[in-house]
Amino acid sequence: MLPKGNFPEKVYVNGEIVSPENAKISVFDRGFLFGDGIYEVMVQLENGVFYKKAHLDRLQDNLKKIGIDYNVEEIDHQLQPLLKASDLTESSCLIYIQVTRGTAPRKHSYPKGIPASVMMYALPYSLPTVNPKHMKAILEPDFRWHRCDIKSISLLGNIMANEAAMSANSDEAALVRDGMISEGSHTNIFFVKNGTVITHPADKHILNGITRMIALKLCNDLDIPVIERPVAENEIEHMDEAFFTGTTTQVASIAQLGDHIFYNNDQVGDITKKLQESFAQLRKKDTANSFL
Ligand code: PDD
Repeated sequence: MLPKGNFPEKVYVNGEIVSPENAKISVFDRGFLFGDGIYEVMVQLENGVFYKKAHLDRLQDNLKKIGIDYNVEEIDHQLQPLLKASDLTESSCLIYIQVTRGTAPRKHSYPKGIPASVMMYALPYSLPTVNPKHMKAILEPDFRWHRCDIKSISLLGNIMANEAAMSANSDEAALVRDGMISEGSHTNIFFVKNGTVITHPADKHILNGITRMIALKLCNDLDIPVIERPVAENEIEHMDEAFFTGTTTQVASIAQLGDHIFYNNDQVGDITKKLQESFAQLRKKDTANSFL
């Protein structure tokens, strides 16, 4: 029996679409034992799955990074049947996908010749055209590993930071590594100074978010200059605006970061607002197969 909660109607698990009660994976699965797997989160909006190709390409790329031999084309083929079975073909929903190295006797090195375990589900989920939140975020030490570019299912560092934010009645935690702000617990972070957008480069200390890449493309389209460099914790108070990006966050204005208050009221910075509006326009387009 599953506990009470918002579970999906159906789950795709290793080639079958079943009820959540019957969605089962072995306790010897390496995802369960080692957190040895990759995940993706994407959303279906009014015009199909938002930047589906970009998400599936990133998944394929991440699987390659950790040597899991699996072709994500199968996920693409199974997505429509899953949405149909879940009665979500035409509805806004969140799609969660997880691929692990598969089931094998516990041993650290990669087992050879076993199939990956694949799980995916869709849940009804609606996103406002523009995120109305004025986010309050705390600063937390970034004690995660040095391969945050990998979208690993091992999210202990992220969930501990997010829990700290929730306990502090905040919306998000921005992570600080060696005095520099890297990203949010489940978002990327951007700053604005004198009309220039500043964000951490897509190196091994952040996840290169699909929404991050979309925001950079929008800056390019809108002739907003961008510098990709980490922002130091002690620079926050000198910044004009800040915002988070992410699949479920979209573009969210930051009202307070650590002790620094950007806005006491419901104000949103000019550049943040422009990006929010341009981002909302993308929903009118079919972006499923767009390149970034
Ligand atoms: N999180 N950085 C981290 C650490 C993330 O976990 C995420 C996404 C992002 C933003 O990536 P994207 O724009 O591709 O969603 C940045 C997802 C949504 C999650 O874990 O639920």
